[in-house]
Formats: sequence, C-alpha cells, structure tokens
Amino acid sequence: MAANRAEAATTLGASATATGRYFGAAIAASKLSDTTYTRILSTEFTSVTPENEMKWDATEPSRGTFNYTSGDRIVSQAQSNGQQVRGHALAWHSQMPGWAQSLSGSTLRSAMLNHITNVATHYKGKIYAWDVVNEAFADDGQGSRRNSSLQQTGNDWIEAAFRAARAADPGAKLCYNDYNTDGVNAKSTAVYTMVKDFKARGVPIDCVGFQSHLGTGVPGDYQSNLQRFADLGVDVQITELDVAQGGNQASIYGTVTKACLAVSRCTGITVWGIRDSDSWRTGENPLLFDSSGNKKAAYTSVLNALNAGSGGGGGGGGNGGTGCTATVTPGTVWGDRYNTSVTVSGASTWTVVVTMTAPQKITSTWNGTATWDASGNVMTMKSNGSGAAFGFTTSFNGNTTARPQISSCTGS
Ligand code: XIL
Repeated sequence: MAANRAEAATTLGASATATGRYFGAAIAASKLSDTTYTRILSTEFTSVTPENEMKWDATEPSRGTFNYTSGDRIVSQAQSNGQQVRGHALAWHSQMPGWAQSLSGSTLRSAMLNHITNVATHYKGKIYAWDVVNEAFADDGQGSRRNSSLQQTGNDWIEAAFRAARAADPGAKLCYNDYNTDGVNAKSTAVYTMVKDFKARGVPIDCVGFQSHLGTGVPGDYQSNLQRFADLGVDVQITELDVAQGGNQASIYGTVTKACLAVSRCTGITVWGIRDSDSWRTGENPLLFDSSGNKKAAYTSVLNALNAGSGGGGGGGGNGGTGCTATVTPGTVWGDRYNTSVTVSGASTWTVVVTMTAPQKITSTWNGTATWDASGNVMTMKSNGSGAAFGFTTSFNGNTTARPQISSCTGS
C-alpha cells in the first residue's frame, strides 16, 4: 500500500485510483505501434475507450458481417496493461455504415438491435461500461430528441437498445452518453427526465456519460449537474474530456477534475486522446500532453486536483478501517478462462485484497477499481460506488484448478 501511495502522487491513473476512480484516454488501434504514445498510455491511464474501433461502421461494415480486429487489438492491449475498457458506442446516428444509413423503420430497428446483441456479446465480460446510446438529444434548446433515422423507428428506440445490451452483457454498466449536457440546460434536463423515467420503469441504465468537449469555459453548475444525475441512482462519468487551449485550459481541467471528485458516484474521467496531435479537434491543442508527448500545465492541474481529492468513488484509502466479509461466488467457466463474483457485506465502502495463483491472471474486472502489486498476483479491489458486489475474469494460462483467495476485507 505504501508503494501505491507513493505512486499516487506521480501518475493520473494511480492518483485517480487512490480516490477509487479510473483515469482513462480514448485511444486508436492504429497508434499502438507509436512508442511515445504507448509509453504514456501504459504509464498514466487505468482505462481506455476505443476512439472509433467499436462504432457501428467499424464493427459491422456490411450487414451481418462483423469485424472486431481493431476493437480486439485495443481490448488485448488494455488487458495486458491492466486497464479497463469503456465500450463506445453501440447505437448512434453518426458513423453508421452506409448500408444502415439506407434503412428505416422496423428494418432499421431490428438491424440496430441485432448489431447491439452481436457486439455486446462479442465483448461480453471485457467491458466495464458501454455507451449504449450516444447523442440522441437535439441542441434546439427545447430538449427534443434528435431527429434521426433511429428516432424515427419510434420513441422507445433508446430503451430497446438498453434492454438488448443488458441481455447480451449483464455484467457491463450501461450508459447514456451526450455532449452539451455539461451544465443544467434544456438538453441535460431532457436526458435527466429520461433517466428518471427509465429508473422508475426498470429500464436497465447504470450510468450517464458527460462528454465534456469544452471550449474556453466550464458551466458554473457543472458539479451540481453531475450530482443531480447521481441522485437518480446512476453512476456518472466524464467520458470525452478535452478543453480548447487558451488562457483557462489548465484551470478548466482542474475544475472538471474537482467536480468529479466531489461527486461520490462520479466513477472516472476519460480524456479524448493522449497528445494534442492525437486529438480530433485539430489545431485546438485540447489535451494533457503536447504533440511531443510532454506534460502540459493542464496535466499538472489534473494531477494536483486528483492528489488533493479523496472521498467519493471508493473512498480515500484511509487507514483504521473496520472489518467486512467478502464472499466468493464462482461464475461461468470457459475453456480458457472463468468468472468470479465477490459480494461484500458489513461495509458499503470497502477494500478487498484478492490473491491469485500464477500463471493464472485476472484479465478484466467490473464494479470496482483494481490495482495490482508488482507480481501481478495480488489485486486490491476498492468499491467505486457500484454496490456490494464486484467481479473479474481470470485466464487459466494452463492451470485450470487454482481459484482466487480472499486475503482481506477492510471497510471504511
Ligand atoms: C470522434 C473521433 O474522435 C474522430 O476520430 C472521428 O472521426 C469522429 O468521432 N462524440 C463522440 C465521439 O461520441 O465518438 C466522437 O469521436 C467525438 C464526439
């Protein structure tokens, strides 16, 4: 633990982990051979989002023919770095393949549901949270739904998408994700109303993503907007953060980071790229590393905010905790791997240490924030506000008999 704390001062990922959260980046499969890129990626981040590789046009280029090559490359790179993966995005009016753009009505509806089922099934057990539906609301100041071919299949298309995703991968958190929802406004309030309705009617939704593509300012009610969603009983995440370079870039990054830390159900932050040269906002230099891979003032601002923060997510990692009980329930077993779930009783904020037997290796986890010792065999899992149970997938690597051991359970 001392090592973890020392490390917490020096990387975004470790500092976020100390608060019970992840710190992620959107990444591109095509850049994984760039050594500066991969050095920063493996050092600084505990979560990744494929920038384009899991979108509809990438994963189903022709109807019924699925291509997971680039998405799989990102997942396996993340697993070897011990990073969790945010899946992005199952249903979205943009980056639809040409064949789907030409469909409408019930044909489009069933193509969309089939797409969700296939992609979420392919990645089952490997995705921490999916952006199930992306950008479904309009910017008209009225809180209307976006007028898209998906919307024209019927107003219930969003809940149909969430139900299909839940059926395909019950272990993934299911998020609604959008932009211009970063303060209290007509659009965010329309999303809020939808989420409230979904929770009331039992439509499966676990989280709301706030893209946070910001210009030269941040809404004054950014934190209270996050909090009002959290109060509906969903996690909130900052999913695509980038901020135009200008006088306030570093302080805006700091403000956003502090806002997440102040909301206990804000489970993590993802920046939309690593270096300025990787950004989709060409010329705006909106990221934390410059084009040569050097840390910018914005980086320091985020790191300082993370290191000052605590509470929330999984708690601040303080000592003097109380006891709790962690109960193991074996899950699905496949030829090469198996799942385990662990239920914690006696504390709502907890740290569970799980010891594995090499050469078995945990390849993905859910509903908690994991860190590892140097051997890679001892996982420290902290609650992240998702409840009393966490889980993980272990690959056998030749040993099919060993099973995880609970070494400790500490409540706080
Ligand atoms: C962007 C990618 O960064 C670009 O590479 C791509 O050309 C277009 O999409 N909202 C989203 C993201 O949800 O998927 C978008 O990503 C940025 C806006």
